Amino acid sequence: MSNKFYITTPIYYPSANAHIGHCYSTIAADVVARYKRLRGFDVLFSTGTDEHGQKIENCAKKLGKSPKEFVDPIVENFKNLWKLLNISYDVFIRTTDKNHVDSVGKIFNKLYEKGEIYKGNYSGWYCVPCESFFTDTQLVDGKCPDCGREVVKQNEEAYFFKLSKYQDKILNLLRTTDFVEPESRKNEMIKFVEEGLQDLCVSRSSFSWGIPVDFDPSHVIYVWIDALSNYITLLGYPDDLNNFNKFWPADVHIMAKEIVRFHAVIWPAILMALDLPVPKKIFGHGWILYGSGEKMSKSKGNVVDPFILCDRYGTDSLRYFLLREISFGSDGFFSNESFIKRINSDLANDLGNLLSRSTALVEKYFDSCLIYDKEYSAEDDNLISLSLSLTKKCEDYVENFKFSNYLAEIWNLVSECNKYIDSCAPWNLSKDDSKRGRLSTILYNVLESLRVISILINPIMPSSSKKIQNQLGLTDSEQISWESSKNWGVLPNKIKIIRKEALFPRFDLDEELKELENLNVKLNDMGNSIVEKNNEIQTNMISIDDFSKVKLIVAKILECEAVKKSKKLLKLTIFDGKSKRTVVSGISQYYLPDQLIGHNIVLVSNLLPAKLCGVESNGMILAAQDSETVKVIFVDNISPGSTIR
Ligand code: ME8
Ligand code: MG
Repeated sequence: MSNKFYITTPIYYPSANAHIGHCYSTIAADVVARYKRLRGFDVLFSTGTDEHGQKIENCAKKLGKSPKEFVDPIVENFKNLWKLLNISYDVFIRTTDKNHVDSVGKIFNKLYEKGEIYKGNYSGWYCVPCESFFTDTQLVDGKCPDCGREVVKQNEEAYFFKLSKYQDKILNLLRTTDFVEPESRKNEMIKFVEEGLQDLCVSRSSFSWGIPVDFDPSHVIYVWIDALSNYITLLGYPDDLNNFNKFWPADVHIMAKEIVRFHAVIWPAILMALDLPVPKKIFGHGWILYGSGEKMSKSKGNVVDPFILCDRYGTDSLRYFLLREISFGSDGFFSNESFIKRINSDLANDLGNLLSRSTALVEKYFDSCLIYDKEYSAEDDNLISLSLSLTKKCEDYVENFKFSNYLAEIWNLVSECNKYIDSCAPWNLSKDDSKRGRLSTILYNVLESLRVISILINPIMPSSSKKIQNQLGLTDSEQISWESSKNWGVLPNKIKIIRKEALFPRFDLDEELKELENLNVKLNDMGNSIVEKNNEIQTNMISIDDFSKVKLIVAKILECEAVKKSKKLLKLTIFDGKSKRTVVSGISQYYLPDQLIGHNIVLVSNLLPAKLCGVESNGMILAAQDSETVKVIFVDNISPGSTIR
């Protein structure tokens, strides 16, 4: 039986600093890696950065830097964040590493020599921020189907990989195995491949920041062969096959849904073309969305700074929250409010308080040294059987990437312990000397459950796990094995507890929200992280020319009604000083039509028309948003048609 386990995160684009979205995949992979290590596997856990391509080249150019100069501090930012988040990766690969560059060159040559790559002509639509090509039919209203921005036509000579040749094999792989999970994404992929695969453009000559094609250096190897190959070049492929033979195929590649297609279709085809086995599993989790429902993304500039969240609330809290709040596989929201609420309820109130009250009872009634007298009672059964059955359930959940269920199951025991203490009421027993044996048993049972809990939370909250164990009198050197969480009565009959400060402090919700708002404003002013003060990359900044493209004018709202079939949209008829036009705005949760009619507002007048729920919108009205509400900006004392600059 093979005892190795190889797990990867995507290699992220260092076009701006890391954000919560990147943390999410990386924490999830870390949890599985830590879990597998606890189960005795020889684990290889890799992450890294994907540093080539036109987007990076353009960002660097804007700042007058070379691409490498541009990415270096951002790669440091990623590494610093992984350190702060306690990410236990074994390998951090950069696609600019010499070994990777050399190996990708060789992989490309190999494919070419085998006739898997040929020279042809490329014509398509390119979205620079997304680094993706689209065919005519893939565009939505002529724009990028992923981000909705302008695309540019590109025509050039290029190399192609014979992806179409692998259509049947890939389809078979998708249909007959659990290669792609969750199920919904597997079905999407099957549908995608059934529509037909076209050969894939794998080189570019319109930019130069990439790995050159060895035998035709006016071309650079275009993103996906370069990026996907990281998973094997970091193992030494093709030259040094020791690690490769040990760890390949990967057990699981973790990523979010938007790049499942590349991993589930292109990657296995490349591997088949190289006569290599395909990875065992592709897991595509959902997106973390912002309050407004938009995906958090570097290229849109709407990111929450994880350094700030870790500094203020602790690494384990963030690790816990991300995996508990959102069911892995589905999209979910990040909000400061739900984060702080969960810290207060699940961490401070439930787990933190359980540890604090049980150690306080041992301190009070046993002078911090519990002597276990083994006076069993039937009222203990429930707690003991719950503790004993927990690990198996948790194993099942984590093996299936169900982190939220995993934690919910543990918290079920946490709350059972709290109930058990309440119903056994040790404070009553303490008054009667003849009940000391029973009193010691109750406290022992709670500490035993806490021991089980501390083991099971270890992959997710490694430092809190250790802190609990230390308070239970277990030293770091004592081996607290995973297997021992399946047994009862492991703690010694004499437990010397060591009480410490609260595991998780409680926060004042309103104060924190205000403070985070302030920090965020500062953050946006600076264009990026305030923690990385020396990092001058200001990805949110625009030039005066960019701004002057936006034509703002004052307009009067004449009519207003709700858009049928939409919970959010209002249809406004407005007068812009010259003529009437229709604008659709997503503010119906905040305004009744009567509250808008007659007011003058600020209009972005030169937006391209867009259809929203079947109504064409010609412009956008400006509104301000704070943590509670949205307010339209009224300029009633300025006449319609006035320009704003
Ligand atoms: O796609 N929610 O890099 P990338 C959840 N270089 N996960 C998110 C997220 C969000 N809002 N935002 C980012 C690339 N992620 C390529 C990958 S792999 C051979 C090459 C996470 O910087 C998630 O894992 O755009 C997503 O797939 C990845 O970051 C995209 O990172
Ligand atoms: Mg992306």
